[in-house]
Amino acid sequence: MNVTHLHCSSCGKKYEPHCLYNLCDCGKPLMVAYDLERAQRTLSREALVDRVPSLWRYEEVLPVEKKSNRITLGEGMTPLIEAEQLGQQLGLRHLYIKDESLNPTASFKARGMAVAVSMAKELGAKKLAVPSAGNAAGALAAYAAKAGLEAFIFMPRDTPKANIIECRQAGAHLTLIDGLITDCGRIVSERKQAEGWFDVSTLKEPYRVEGKKTMGYELAEQLGWELPDVILYPTGGGTGLIGMWKAFDEMERMGWIGSERPRMVVVQSEGCAPIVQAFHSGSQFGVEIANAHTVASGLRVPRAIGDFIMLDILRQSSGTAVTVTDEELLSAVKEIATAEGIFAAPEGGACLPALRQLIDRGEVSRDERIVLFNTGSGLKYLDAFWISEN
Ligand SMILES: Cc1ncc(COP(=O)(O)O)c(C=O)c1O
Ligand SMILES: [Zn+2]
Repeated sequence: MNVTHLHCSSCGKKYEPHCLYNLCDCGKPLMVAYDLERAQRTLSREALVDRVPSLWRYEEVLPVEKKSNRITLGEGMTPLIEAEQLGQQLGLRHLYIKDESLNPTASFKARGMAVAVSMAKELGAKKLAVPSAGNAAGALAAYAAKAGLEAFIFMPRDTPKANIIECRQAGAHLTLIDGLITDCGRIVSERKQAEGWFDVSTLKEPYRVEGKKTMGYELAEQLGWELPDVILYPTGGGTGLIGMWKAFDEMERMGWIGSERPRMVVVQSEGCAPIVQAFHSGSQFGVEIANAHTVASGLRVPRAIGDFIMLDILRQSSGTAVTVTDEELLSAVKEIATAEGIFAAPEGGACLPALRQLIDRGEVSRDERIVLFNTGSGLKYLDAFWISEN
């Protein structure tokens, strides 16, 4: 095990490794630190060639100590697909789609939950609770089932049916709330102590980021140990964005990549864009959005606890933040499927109109390597597509 300690993303306070934690005493997220020199005794770019095609190929930079605690359904090592036709239509020579829809439970949430549930099992938690916009709930339900742990899930009542059904089928305790993910989060916070739940909310638990960071390792590996120039990421709580940035830092410290970084682009929907608003107003934190609404349910996160980390990354990377409308993101799903054969989630679809905005403003150039994240499968949103088409 190469974890040396955990540290606060805000005040820097250090915590002993291998204990169940939620937030720092100051109320901000904790991050996991590794002895990367030790990790490198067995982990090298060459050593990866023969490893399992899942995120566990990066085991030295993951926190799970015992292999027997690893809860896996085959998450990670999703394809990075060259989007040639779409690229041609846009006048871009190197456009890629990282297709996260191939993960177990058909979204990238599997990565975070695989590692979080493995750690919860290793550290003795029995009942796991989460507020979710939908896909995190489905992933928790599946991994908790596999681990033999109980899952307590709180979701908005109007979450896509697929998410509701997948939780019920996997035997989770599901409560539907007339409200948003932030309301669900408040319920988990209020009840967790009395109920004995371990809270696995985005960034209130330190290991989901560790699972999600493997998207950053994979991108580098799949691009021959170079990073793309631009990454467009549909952003809710921001775990993936924060995780990838952490992965880039770890890889640089291991000498695998240089100091160059992609420009990170947050994509949100017009009906719920706290990070975009904060970015353009120069704020350090987001303001909670009232009446948040969007068909891209994963982006319906009116306030993110890691907002200040995301905003810092956007600024450090010379990136930006863009909003798109629901109409644009839904029609982009069709364009992507028609050009590339990938039936993207609405959240993934959102990256395409966002990219168009950057092209129109001259903020990306023809020869740059650009990665769009398709974070889930369109098959989980059939109700939304049915409504929009009929
Ligand atoms: C398909 C999809 N894309 C994107 C997101 C946003 O992800 P993150 O919370 O990592 O920003 C979610 C969150 O629920 C999602 O389900
Ligand atoms: Zn702190």
